[in-house]
Amino acid sequence: MRGISVERFGQAPELRKLPVPEPGTGQVQVAIEAAAVNPLDMAIASGALAAFGEYRFPLTLGMDGAGTVTAIGDGVTQFRVGERVFGQFWDQPLQFGTFAEVCVVQAAPVLGALAAVPDMMPADVAAALPTSGMTALGVLDHMQVPEGGTLLVVGATGGVGTFAVQAATARGIGVVATASAELAEELRGLGASEIVPRGIEPLEQALRRIVPEGVDAILDLVGDPLLTSRVAGAVRDGGALFSTAFGLDDPLLGDKRIRTANYQLDRKPERLAELTELVMAGTLRSVIGAEVPLEEAPRALAGEVGVTGLRGKTVLRVS
Ligand SMILES: NC(=O)c1ccc[n+]([C@@H]2O[C@H](COP(=O)([O-])OP(=O)(O)OC[C@H]3O[C@@H](n4cnc5c(N)ncnc54)[C@H](OP(=O)(O)O)[C@@H]3O)[C@@H](O)[C@H]2O)c1
Repeated sequence: MRGISVERFGQAPELRKLPVPEPGTGQVQVAIEAAAVNPLDMAIASGALAAFGEYRFPLTLGMDGAGTVTAIGDGVTQFRVGERVFGQFWDQPLQFGTFAEVCVVQAAPVLGALAAVPDMMPADVAAALPTSGMTALGVLDHMQVPEGGTLLVVGATGGVGTFAVQAATARGIGVVATASAELAEELRGLGASEIVPRGIEPLEQALRRIVPEGVDAILDLVGDPLLTSRVAGAVRDGGALFSTAFGLDDPLLGDKRIRTANYQLDRKPERLAELTELVMAGTLRSVIGAEVPLEEAPRALAGEVGVTGLRGKTVLRVS
């Protein structure tokens, strides 16, 4: 089968011919239809997460995907052959990712979450949901922005951001988002009420002008500690400043005036179920900025695939 893999940490991901993995006890084999790219994929390939798990090589990359179960191992009761599944295929040890024609994963992935694809949902839509959608829901839960409050999303045009803008809006939160000026209308279409154009004036200065009363919370998706330190003053007393991109340094994490955290995605199976419900209800949708064939994955991972409009998710068509 074809798959995008590395033979050691730090190697550039390449399209390779790989043996088809067979499911062991508790595992499902999935013929992948579509996969989606996350910053996490390159973090894993680089070895930056080497200390946080066990890895086997050649390591096929890809966490998010959707496809059809083609075989099950002993003891699998959650899924049957022929069923369409999607989710974050993050197993331990990790070897078989979703950037391949066939993937093998525990039916209940050790670090991820798997669920049935809702009827009629196209594979690309399903593949674009898991990591970004779950993260947006999770971080909003922890931030506890009150209904009627104001949230600033820094880095709103990407995977997590496009879901966070929609989910916050659906919770009755007013969203202020940073984006380049030409994407303002598209972000308003997701629910953002104010756009702070990037690169025109320092963000903290723009915030003093646009929201002089301050915001209830800031969600950082960029990961620049200098930037988060500069904008922290815009959060009202008792408000929240959270980052999914490890953008908060120790002084901010120790702040007593506001609640601060570098958030790590938790309770994945529950969040995947909630995400599915919200998508089926029409409350959230995947924003797919680019869709390319599997062999384009190395360029997609390097951020070299062109996007028209919001960046959202880059989806790989696998079969
Ligand atoms: N902790 C967790 O459990 C968890 C889970 C998921 C994701 N994450 C992390 O969360 C972050 C966001 O993930 P994602 O999937 O949304 O990434 P993404 O799709 O690459 O989006 C990144 C966003 O940041 C913006 N951005 C990048 N550099 C910027 C800069 N210098 N100034 C202002 N904006 C900038 C991008 O804007 P442009 O489109 O204009 O470039 C885009 O809106 C990543 O660091 C990811 O690793 C963590």
